[in-house]
Amino acid sequence: MTELTKKNRFIIELKGIVKEYSPQKSFFSKCDNRVIALNSIDLGIKKGEIFGLVGQSGSGKTTMGRLLVKLEQATHGTIFLNGNPVTNLTGKALNNYRSRVQMIFQDPYQSLNPYLSISETILEPLNVHKIGNNDQRYEKVIHTLETVGLSPGKEYYDRYPHQLSGGQRQRVAIARAIVLEPEFIVADEPTSMLDATIAIQLFRLLTQIRDKFNMTFLFITHNLAAAKYLCDRIAVIHEGNIVEINTADEIIQNPQHPYTKKLIQVQPGFHFN
Ligand SMILES: Nc1ncnc2c1ncn2[C@@H]1O[C@H](COP(=O)(O)OP(=O)(O)OP(=O)(O)O)[C@@H](O)[C@H]1O
Ligand SMILES: [Mg+2]
Repeated sequence: MTELTKKNRFIIELKGIVKEYSPQKSFFSKCDNRVIALNSIDLGIKKGEIFGLVGQSGSGKTTMGRLLVKLEQATHGTIFLNGNPVTNLTGKALNNYRSRVQMIFQDPYQSLNPYLSISETILEPLNVHKIGNNDQRYEKVIHTLETVGLSPGKEYYDRYPHQLSGGQRQRVAIARAIVLEPEFIVADEPTSMLDATIAIQLFRLLTQIRDKFNMTFLFITHNLAAAKYLCDRIAVIHEGNIVEINTADEIIQNPQHPYTKKLIQVQPGFHFN
């Protein structure tokens, strides 16, 4: 393998990532309350794959997502995008990273600003990154609305989040995340607040977007069945440690780690939320 292909084998790579939270100590507190949310994570995500991160509540899933989109900084370790370290990005380089890596949050009721119309919500990233003129931005918003299944786009353009269902709101959140055509998207439990039938429609949408734009996704979930349905590969996380990584089929049919086996036992059915 040449140096270049070795470098670019993964679109996203985490090496030795540790995230420690230290709550502020009071004068009287004697105990050390540090939480190790992520404990030396090594992980590579390939271009165009939907990679699942599965674990129970408090295992460190959201923390990993927040580090990847640089909402937070790792305590130790390095994150790479296309082989380039992104740890100390500032200014223009950080701006550029923020346009290439996006996040979809769990709660479509809280993640959209209720005072912004649907068009203003989706226009915001285009304005921030100064993409195109007014006409081009308008076209882009309409086109993106239709890509996420809100069609015809003109009908949704001037609506507000309270006029949409939970599933439609999550489609708007997806539109906002993809409007800059990023390379990598973190989707943090994007369907856990929605009905199973709506969840499956959104899984189909994410797969279509991956196929259309060759985007790469980290899909975060506590639900192994959902990950099996959507993902190419899955990492199982337990108390801040990745205990197993494999193809989705292998993880379900041939789990190796006792914790993965336990997860499969407690989630026998195919329910998605
Ligand atoms: N800002 C913070 N300050 C202190 N501790 C935190 C902070 N954010 C997360 N933690 C702790 O880090 C650990 C991992 O939290 P995280 O939110 O990443 O878990 P999760 O897997 O996303 O859980 P859930 O499935 O409930 O969303 C937990 O013990 C949590 O309490
Ligand atoms: Mg979480």
